[in-house]
Amino acid sequence: MKQYRCWAEIDLEALRENLAWIRHRVGPAVKIMTVVKADAYGHGLKQIAALLMQSGTDVFGIANLTEAQSIRAVGRGWPILMLGACLPFEVETAVREDVMPTISTLEEAEQFSQAAARLGKVARVHLKVDTGMGRLGVEPKDAPALWKRISALPGIKIAGLYTHYSSVEDDPTFSRAQKRQFHRLLKLVPHDSLEYLHANNSGALLFERDTHFNTVRPGLLVYGVLPPANRRIQSELQDHVRPTLTWKCHVSLVKTISRGAALSYGRTFVARRSMRVATLTAGYGDGYLRAASNRARVLIAGEFCRVLGRVTMDQMIVDVSHLPNVKSGDEVVLVGAQSNRTITANHLAQWCRTIPWEILTAITARVPRVYRGSQAA
Ligand SMILES: Cc1ncc(COP(=O)(O)O)c(C=O)c1O
Repeated sequence: MKQYRCWAEIDLEALRENLAWIRHRVGPAVKIMTVVKADAYGHGLKQIAALLMQSGTDVFGIANLTEAQSIRAVGRGWPILMLGACLPFEVETAVREDVMPTISTLEEAEQFSQAAARLGKVARVHLKVDTGMGRLGVEPKDAPALWKRISALPGIKIAGLYTHYSSVEDDPTFSRAQKRQFHRLLKLVPHDSLEYLHANNSGALLFERDTHFNTVRPGLLVYGVLPPANRRIQSELQDHVRPTLTWKCHVSLVKTISRGAALSYGRTFVARRSMRVATLTAGYGDGYLRAASNRARVLIAGEFCRVLGRVTMDQMIVDVSHLPNVKSGDEVVLVGAQSNRTITANHLAQWCRTIPWEILTAITARVPRVYRGSQAA
């Protein structure tokens, strides 16, 4: 990609295959709600939504109404669930545009009922149950009463019931307790005819395979990234999903620095010997986190190169002492494969002491997304 300084290549074929593997895993009867919030985890919402629509997604999970509008602009008719709580001023738009809200309280349900009456529509909602995440949802003990009250409201239909695991990658005991609470509730509410009954995000798809219910809710796995976990993954998915995103930039300058020379702001790296260093065309303005300073590696000419000193807004410096032929214009891989070496979003996340979700969604708007694969527009 000669024309770009820093860009992300998205492999749509990989995305399609990842969804096919998830479909294979859960079977034809279970709906797949692909989570495409935050610009489809940094991959570009419209392109990804289009591909997922062609590849068998059943429903989309989003974080705000702008995302819903982007999906509608690509294709009408797909069910959409807003995973966060709707703000009062968003209620009418959500009803008008058939975006299913997540409901935790009677007050929210009443707002939707009233908006539906005003618009002459029926609001289809998902009731969320808080089994341990603490972010949204009704307490399990209060859920049956809330279910009854909501069911009695005009203009509203409970289309879904769901919960969310808080530490499924690491804590089987707590996850089991969450599961128990949800199952106990299912005995108390008439859930048989629910269109959507769901709990499993990517981690739970790998670790809690008995709670697929009739819908699963993967994000990270769709993009081919495994959630970091202390539990041992024993799902075939870990061997088959592959990353859809490769993040690249260029070498802009190569120079030799003397022993004792310091690099970048704050002079946090001091050369112990004469070194060849390369300046790269990516920085935190592109979303390459400053936390990677002095910790991360990139790939140049198929070899790992250490990040030296602080990452700056548009540039960063790496050690190329071991690569005598590196020159301005050479391609650099920040996340992805080059020759037979790979840096995953999980590797970069570990170097930055963060999580792959943040690595992907941190890639900024100035980084062009370039789509590859037969379905690329
Ligand atoms: C409620 C809910 N469900 C599912 C997901 C998808 O999670 P993951 O990317 O771990 O699959 C998210 C993402 O944050 C979420 O908030």
